[in-house]
Amino acid sequence: MYQAPLPQEYASLTPEQARERIIAAKKALGSRVVILGHHYQRDEIIEHADYRGDSFKLAKDANKHPEAEYIVFCGVHFMAESADILTPDHMKVILPNLAAGCSMADMANLFQVRAAWRQLEETIPNSTIVPITYINSAANLKAFVGERGGTVCTSTNAPKAVEWALERGEKVLFFPDQHLGRNTGAKLGYDPDKDMCVWDPFKPLGGNTPEKLRESKFILWKGHCSVHQRFTVEQVERARREHPGVNVIVHPECPIEVVRLADYVGSTEFIINTITAAEPNTTWAVGTEINLVNRVAKEQTDKKVFCLDPMICPCSTMYRIHPSFLCWALENLVAGTPVNVIEVPPKVKHFAKLALDRMLTIV
Ligand code: 13P
Ligand code: SF4
Repeated sequence: MYQAPLPQEYASLTPEQARERIIAAKKALGSRVVILGHHYQRDEIIEHADYRGDSFKLAKDANKHPEAEYIVFCGVHFMAESADILTPDHMKVILPNLAAGCSMADMANLFQVRAAWRQLEETIPNSTIVPITYINSAANLKAFVGERGGTVCTSTNAPKAVEWALERGEKVLFFPDQHLGRNTGAKLGYDPDKDMCVWDPFKPLGGNTPEKLRESKFILWKGHCSVHQRFTVEQVERARREHPGVNVIVHPECPIEVVRLADYVGSTEFIINTITAAEPNTTWAVGTEINLVNRVAKEQTDKKVFCLDPMICPCSTMYRIHPSFLCWALENLVAGTPVNVIEVPPKVKHFAKLALDRMLTIV
């Protein structure tokens, strides 16, 4: 989404000025505001968060203070939309920078998913397909799955969500992340070659034959995360060569070859909790976004923690939540002129909420 440039007063703040003004604005707002921070946010943002978490935890945390007037979501657009859907109408959700989107979420839109669904209905009319959307998707796709008996999943509950879906239908249409879909199916014992196909929205039948669609249990949308797709087998091999005894821990948005070589796989919250609970003097090579990795490395001083990718892999959209934007958003709340309010239209909200509520019960 388009974000107008910050007024000069904010654009020229020094880091220390921004920090002091954020603290002052937050104090002035008191219990009227709750600040949520995703683990990929930079330290200068995370220090102001009332709650930090992965997508699943933050979706639940959003509802912890129904008496608050504002949730300031330091994360990306789909997270702010989910918070708006899950919280009472009187709570306004603010995304400090509207340009903080998710490139993976943008890889599937409603027009494309409707077209895929229509083609699947025509090509394999006797199959029951349950749609699952990863929470990294637009609200109207959440409504799409809600209306068709599907659910939203996160990296935390994806295996349970797929099991839930396969109790209700023969096949799953999983979007937008092919990697999370493939890794989840493989974890449940399905064969990526035999039981899965990839749906390319730019090709007829997603680039598949009718037979392949009939045979496949999982139809995986051809989307990916540009941060996690960078992790490679070579990086894991190198970490093992250079750090004997290293524990490799990765996010399930990584390619399956990397996931298969890892010792642990899970959400951002899982990664942090696993390293935090580990024995002192252990070594951890981590396959996820760099702000998270650096923070864990800094906090877990008795362990060696480093990123699998030596080239450093920030999520450029998460990074758009700069302290100056947070300051601008909070001071506007103090002034009674909320900016960047994320409001999901009521007709989308209904079915999207159904799908998100299902997500929260599938644990
Ligand atoms: P988590 O739900 O694991 O925090 O993941 C969100 C995300 O966008 C990962 O790239
Ligand atoms: Fe989206 Fe990837 Fe950034 Fe997560 S890390 S918000 S999936 S682009």
